[in-house]
Amino acid sequence: MKFKKNILCIGAGYVGGPTMAVIAAKCPDCKVTVVDINAERIRAWGTDQLPIFEPGLLAVVREARGRNLFFSTDIAAGIREADIIFVSVNTPTKTFGHGAGMASDLQYWEKTAHEIVAHSDRAKIIVEKSTLPVRTAEAMERILQENKKGIPFEVISNPEFLAEGSAVRDLLEPDRVLIGSRQTETGLRAAREIVDIFASWVAAERIITTNLWSAELSKLVANAFLAQRISSINAVSALCEKTGADVGEISFAVGSDSRIGRRFLNASIGFGGSCFKKDILNLVYISRSYGLNEVADYWEAVVRMNEYQQERFVQTIIREMFHTVVGKKIAMLGFAFKADTGDTRESPGIHVARKLLEEQAVLAITDPQALDNARRDLAGLAGAVEFEPDPYRAAADAQALAVVTEWEAFKKLDYEKIFASMRKPAFVFDGRNILDHRKLFEIGFNVFPLGKPSLTHFA
Ligand SMILES: NC(=O)c1ccc[n+]([C@@H]2O[C@H](COP(=O)([O-])OP(=O)(O)OC[C@H]3O[C@@H](n4cnc5c(N)ncnc54)[C@H](O)[C@@H]3O)[C@@H](O)[C@H]2O)c1
Repeated sequence: MKFKKNILCIGAGYVGGPTMAVIAAKCPDCKVTVVDINAERIRAWGTDQLPIFEPGLLAVVREARGRNLFFSTDIAAGIREADIIFVSVNTPTKTFGHGAGMASDLQYWEKTAHEIVAHSDRAKIIVEKSTLPVRTAEAMERILQENKKGIPFEVISNPEFLAEGSAVRDLLEPDRVLIGSRQTETGLRAAREIVDIFASWVAAERIITTNLWSAELSKLVANAFLAQRISSINAVSALCEKTGADVGEISFAVGSDSRIGRRFLNASIGFGGSCFKKDILNLVYISRSYGLNEVADYWEAVVRMNEYQQERFVQTIIREMFHTVVGKKIAMLGFAFKADTGDTRESPGIHVARKLLEEQAVLAITDPQALDNARRDLAGLAGAVEFEPDPYRAAADAQALAVVTEWEAFKKLDYEKIFASMRKPAFVFDGRNILDHRKLFEIGFNVFPLGKPSLTHFA
């Protein structure tokens, strides 16, 4: 079969895989190939045990796989064949040298630019899907223009706004699709080609076109704003615990103002995931590199507040369990950085587990999707930790439950049965405020929600 266009995506991760599956499903006249250097990941995309968990993803992949969606490790062949190349490789925070702990590590991204040059023999559109520092497209253009073959490349920025856990829905019904290009004739023409892909299923008014730098910077700013809302309500949760105010009531009252809105105003042990922290730190780094120290300090505080909130959760557990958790079994309900994903990158659970193990607690971690990742995250740490798929077994003989992830399944557990199997006094530390605190108290638990008065049976 002859396809209208050949689309390649370099990087078969949390973004590349789902994004390309949806494009393939919605554009059956395009051939979509996803390549990766990670052969194991590519192999898994070809099976029904996908390498990532995402509700609804398997159905979309199955619809298109083998028809116009292909997964491969042959990056060179993919590049040669492609008209449009999406680059969706990882751009983690640099861990070494200048800018360590702040700047983006662009080595994976730059490698793909060189590979594109090496294997191209005709014009192509290169689409930045990865989240990149503003003005990265300029560097991409320079590498591509050094190609000595006179091949014209056009670089487009199309940052991805999907959230893990709702990736398929976000891709099928995006709030907006953002496409940035050079404002030249060829740049605008390339942007139109990318618009045409998304226009197959996204309404025209939701497709925003901008200049390249606005598109690149919008992604960092969007994540910084989202994370800022979480840090703002978390800062207030600490104040609530001192004053007797209830952070849930405050979220409702404040969020009812339509200028503010309800979303992302749930107090929690803090945000995690591979993006928020790294993207804010990148924004901080960029601001500082332009000498804008006040701007950098402002955004850095969002990350500091998040670390404070995670630490505060651990300190509450230790303080309320009579200042020692040595030898006490604590069941951690959840380890993923949020519900509906198995992803644990930057999960607050990592910090909580590490700290509790340092305090010589005995941990039983349960999570519907994240236990394999949890095992990897905690490998090599000294201390007693067990990974238990069954929440009832995790809770048996424990002295406390610590809710780390807001899985729906945790709301539906039989807490009478759990209470009966636990050591007394039994504690619940609800780091997501998802449980029925009054009911737990009535069962006999000593309950410590976040940003709300505690409910205890102690005199
Ligand atoms: N995860 C999210 O929720 C999310 C949302 C929006 C944007 N983003 C951004 O998207 C980008 C990708 O994120 P992700 O979560 O999918 O990362 P990921 O680590 O899951 O996937 C990246 C993939 O790229 C592959 N890769 C790296 N170098 C390669 C190369 N030279 N050739 C071929 N493959 C290569 C890796 O093997 C990996 O499988 C990042 O810039 C991230 O900031 C992520």
